[in-house]
Amino acid sequence: MKIDGVPTRSIALAADGWAVEVIDQTLLPHAFAKRRLETAEAAAEAIRVMRVRGAPLIGATAAYGLALAMRTDPSDAALEHAAQMLVATRPTAINLRWAVDDMTARLRPLPPGERAAAAYRRAAEICDEDVAINTAIGSHGLDLIRAAWQAAGRARPVNVLTHCNAGWLATVDWGTALAPIYMAHDAGIPVHVWVDETRPRNQGAALTAWELGRHGVAHTVVVDNAGGHLMQHGLVDLCLVGTDRTTSRGDVCNKVGTYLKALAARDNDVPFYVALPGPTIDWTLEDALSGIPIEERDGREVSHVIGCTDDGRMAAVRITPPDSPVANHAFDVTPARLVTALITERGVCPATREGLLSLYPERHNRPLA
Ligand code: MRU
Repeated sequence: MKIDGVPTRSIALAADGWAVEVIDQTLLPHAFAKRRLETAEAAAEAIRVMRVRGAPLIGATAAYGLALAMRTDPSDAALEHAAQMLVATRPTAINLRWAVDDMTARLRPLPPGERAAAAYRRAAEICDEDVAINTAIGSHGLDLIRAAWQAAGRARPVNVLTHCNAGWLATVDWGTALAPIYMAHDAGIPVHVWVDETRPRNQGAALTAWELGRHGVAHTVVVDNAGGHLMQHGLVDLCLVGTDRTTSRGDVCNKVGTYLKALAARDNDVPFYVALPGPTIDWTLEDALSGIPIEERDGREVSHVIGCTDDGRMAAVRITPPDSPVANHAFDVTPARLVTALITERGVCPATREGLLSLYPERHNRPLA
């Protein structure tokens, strides 16, 4: 995507060709600043504190984290240490483990002297693959938005509700759920996006709203609990969200609050679509409720809100009584029965095992990833 006319990816090599540059998302939308990562530890820190976040982007960052580790020390011990450190940063999104497993499987058989170059090559490929995947998701999802526009007689904008940030900041470029929206906008289809603020970290209010605004897409930020009301009043044509892990039968684990939107969508006959890249499918799992570890983050994200003061300082303010316990479950599970369809890079399918296998036939008789 372009920032002030300059094509920008959320992660890229620095001009020196070895350090990695990411956008520090903890500063958005108040400041746009790149952060230089020079070690695997810095990559792990960036993932842990969510300078980078979003399932595909944390996978790409972990891949480059391994390249940075191999540049310093290409030994077996250093490879295993860096892999374990990176995988331990966040538990829910499967892309992180997928990227680390993919990298380590390719690096382990190589002589140590060849590992750094191979790691940089593969990390770059993972990034390019992510962009290609999201471009394809965008064009498949565009067909659904165009159909909604035609169903409305082309008389008004298509109203899409989204949750969290599944845009280009959450991936290497384009995004998953937002890719169809950008493509619809670019194709001249009028789109308006209801952006859930997405407490506690406000990825919707801070990141999705910023992205959409930069691209010129009409949007309105709403509090997380407004979605049901909007749907009851016919103000949402379709919901479109991303996912951090999708099981082989189409259960979807995504940012906490997604499930409640899917329930409201079902009650109001609003289509509920989930956009996902292939690496987000966990073929080893059927039942998301019992099988996916749900990240529990620091309670301070709930007890405090971070924002920017009028004089431009970032500040955290407490919003709960100091002695009230808080809980911070970061993701929830939307059962497949509430999902109208999955939008993948290979096309659109029902959220069922058969639906996914129709797009990924190579997974037939291969239950394990
Ligand atoms: O906690 P985050 O911000 O990493 O969570 C991100 C999401 O839940 C996104 O919706 C998901 O990763 C899909 S992003 C393409």
